[in-house]
Formats: sequence, structure tokens, C-alpha cells
Amino acid sequence: MDNRIRTYQIAADYIRQQTGGHTPEVGIVLGSGLGRLADRIEDAVVIPYKGIPGFPVSTAVGHKGNFIVGRLGGKEVIAMQGRFHYYEGYPMDLVTIGIRTMSVLGTKSLFVSNAAGAANPDYRVGDLVIIRDHISFFPNPLIGPNLDEMGPRFPDMTCAYDPELQDLAEACAAQMGIGLRKGVYCGSTGPTYETPAEVRFYRTVGADLLGMSTVPEVIVARHCGMRVFGMSVVTNCANFDNVTGNANDGDDVVKQADAAAERMTSLFAKMISAL
Ligand code: HPA
Repeated sequence: MDNRIRTYQIAADYIRQQTGGHTPEVGIVLGSGLGRLADRIEDAVVIPYKGIPGFPVSTAVGHKGNFIVGRLGGKEVIAMQGRFHYYEGYPMDLVTIGIRTMSVLGTKSLFVSNAAGAANPDYRVGDLVIIRDHISFFPNPLIGPNLDEMGPRFPDMTCAYDPELQDLAEACAAQMGIGLRKGVYCGSTGPTYETPAEVRFYRTVGADLLGMSTVPEVIVARHCGMRVFGMSVVTNCANFDNVTGNANDGDDVVKQADAAAERMTSLFAKMISAL
């Protein structure tokens, strides 16, 4: 057996021991400043990454390092409160270890969230955006020997972000009076924010949102057959020119995400209850 599969199985066994053997139906990844959704999870069991065999410790600003297993919207869920970013220096196998561990636990759907900069000039800080597709400037996390036990060598990415889940999000948001946008997320490694020339380039090739996460997780989730729903919270508008100073700073991003977290949390709960 491939060592990577063994690692995911050992991690999944450890989580099962802590939770009394639940099978979480839905996985959730909570981005920068969005960790408060975890407060809404009932009968929550908190499992720090640092105790899980094979897991790294998340170091990014605004990120805690826990799995939270419990119930949300009447469903068994497992949430990652804090994720692993490529810019932290982890290899892709560790960036995506949480997703594959969820898959081994039996999780079939993945809700990913992130804080993102807007490359679409119509977007405003605090907007919630359904991710309808992505453009990747990351090394592909599936490079290397294929894990045939998890999925195929050449996974299809035409509907990486589940169209039905996007429709469900729009229907739930309409009922709740929450405004949503829909856009393309462009993921690059960071940790630098984009130069104005890069912002113009990303916009030209079709990006609405700019971020440093999500894409590797979504690729791995699709590889192992999970349905994926992605949502960005716009925390800043990207700079198209060199005139205005760059207002990006990690603390500001976390503060803006916090303000929108409540709406996103309610939406995720409603969607999950409707699954
Ligand atoms: N660029 C990249 N990643 C980000 C940004 C941004 O402007 N804002 C929050 N994450």
C-alpha cells in the first residue's frame, strides 16, 4: 500500500476514536477569519491537528488548527478550523491531507471557504461570492504516482464546483435575503499579494477573485469524487494601478472576513440542512 494512504487511514482512525465512530457526511474548510462557523456546530468534538498522527500544524494568521466534528443543519459534519497553505512551506500532500482524511472517513461533499481579493471591479468588500470555476497557478497536487485507491489519473474538472450546489446556494440565499455573486477564483501560491501588473493579467484571463488557497483542496476533493461547493468572502479590492498604496494586510483581511462570516455561516447551515 502507498504510504500516503496509510497516513490518511491512521489519521482517520485517530479521528474515529475521538468521535466514537461518526461518519461525517459533509466536510467544511473554514478560511481566514471564517472559523466562527465552528461555534454553530452542535455536540462538537474538537480535535487539534497537533494530536493527529501525520498532521502538520497550521501557522497562518487567523487560522486555528482543529477539526470540529458534530452536527450542523441536522447533518453529521467535519470542519477544518484552519487549513494548510502551500506558502507555509508544506508539500502538496500535507496541504491536502485534511481533505483526503475526510474522504477516508466517508465524507461525500465538501464546502470550502476563503478570504479573497476582488479582481472584478464590481465587487465590494464583504461580498459573498459563489466560486463557479477556478484558474490555478499552483503546482498540481496530483503530480506524482496516482493514488488509484482514491481516484483516476486524469480527473475531469469541467464541473469541479457542483452546479446543483450552486443553484441550492442561490435558492437558499434568496430565501434568506442574502445577496450573492458568482465568479472565477484564481489561486496562486503567495505569500506576496499581487503586483498591479499581475492583477491586470489575472483579470484579463478571467479572474474575479484572487487567493492563496482552495485550489489544491478542490482538485484533491474532485479526484476522490467529492461534490464541491466553494465560497469566497471579499476582504479587499485588488489594486489595478501603482498609484494608490496597497491596503492589503493580513489583519485587515481577517477583520473583513469576520464581518461577513455570520452571513456565510447561516447560508452554509441552510444549504447543508437542505442536502
Ligand atoms: N490576493 C491574494 N490573496 C488574498 C487577497 C488578495 O488580494 N486577499 C485575501 N487573500
